[in-house]
Amino acid sequence: MKQLKQLEDLKVKGKRVFTRVDFNVPIKNGKVTDELRIAAALPTIKYLIKQGAIVILASHLGRPDGKPTEKYSLEPVAVSLSELLNKEVIFIHDCVGQKVVDRINKLVPGQIALLENLRFHAEEEANDPDFAKQLASLADVYVDDAFAVAHRAHASVVGIPKYLPSVSGKLIEAEVNNLSSLLTHPKHPFVAIIGGAKISDKIAFMHQLMSKADTLIIGGAMANTFLAAQGHNMQASVQDTKGQAVAKAILEEAHHKEIKIVMPLDVVVADKAEDGAKHRTVMVGLLQPGDMALDLGPLTTTAINEALQGAKTVFWNGTLGLTEVKAFSKSSRDLAEHLAKLRAMTIIGGGDTAGFIDEVHLHDKFDFVSTGGGAALELLAGKTLPALTPLYK
Ligand code: 3PG
Repeated sequence: MKQLKQLEDLKVKGKRVFTRVDFNVPIKNGKVTDELRIAAALPTIKYLIKQGAIVILASHLGRPDGKPTEKYSLEPVAVSLSELLNKEVIFIHDCVGQKVVDRINKLVPGQIALLENLRFHAEEEANDPDFAKQLASLADVYVDDAFAVAHRAHASVVGIPKYLPSVSGKLIEAEVNNLSSLLTHPKHPFVAIIGGAKISDKIAFMHQLMSKADTLIIGGAMANTFLAAQGHNMQASVQDTKGQAVAKAILEEAHHKEIKIVMPLDVVVADKAEDGAKHRTVMVGLLQPGDMALDLGPLTTTAINEALQGAKTVFWNGTLGLTEVKAFSKSSRDLAEHLAKLRAMTIIGGGDTAGFIDEVHLHDKFDFVSTGGGAALELLAGKTLPALTPLYK
């Protein structure tokens, strides 16, 4: 297997280290509301500080379309990071230009600076070579620890390594090792739980699973598409109509390969996807006009728990219901609690699922919680992530 170049392979003492992180975190009223991704970058940052490096952190936040936009400023992240580290984090109000160069030149070993959102410059997403060169000129070496954006060929992740000695940070290493272990040597029985909304985002990944998993549990809005493909009338439920043919093909493949499929038996329905909406639990097949399936019912939770009995490896990506609304988060909560007690290798595939696990305070009960949404799925689908290519030995 290909090996990543590691932090320890690089001499960083007294050097300016351009450290690309993914601090794309939710911010409300100027405050970070979920610090998961910031906390995940701490091992690398602490290592660099301990080694006496000058740490220059850079990230994107949201999709500001190449223009400075106040709501996408990384300034609140600097505050959060500083609290987590109990150390000053100098915020620099741009990521390129003379003022940035001057401020960076004043930094001394052991100091940390965070640059403003890279995506305030359209050149970042365009992978502009001059922009990458300007960023590279701020530092002596490059560390990439931004796993969640590794599937994007942007200047700060694929451009800079052309100009500086480059290695992966500790988060990227942990992500790649943990997620790859699912594809290379999962302990069987291997149960995969897939939820979320769209099949189209997960097709390639689900096909990979067909040759690895023993059981596939399908929940979330994704299950509506599978149920519709089996001929159930899912009424007003969110469905991926274009995904029905894919759903059928996956079910057929699973049948041929003798992969056990667990689908909803009962669902919680309402006519509105909001708190306070009147809801009831019905068997699949008995939905009435206007009904939207928004969560899985108790019979399905029992079936899921049974399917998990004896599992040695469990991977979960995608919540089972509309967890943003408390009334429809029960089956996901029950699953999280059940998995937390299971004697199996449990891996959570980033995005909303990681956020949910954090919300229910079970984050530390899992073997690994990925910080990557799209990046984790692409890696698990066997695709090459552009940002990882320059980081291999
Ligand atoms: C993510 O949140 O998945 C990453 O930060 C990538 O963000 P993007 O989808 O806006 O490129």
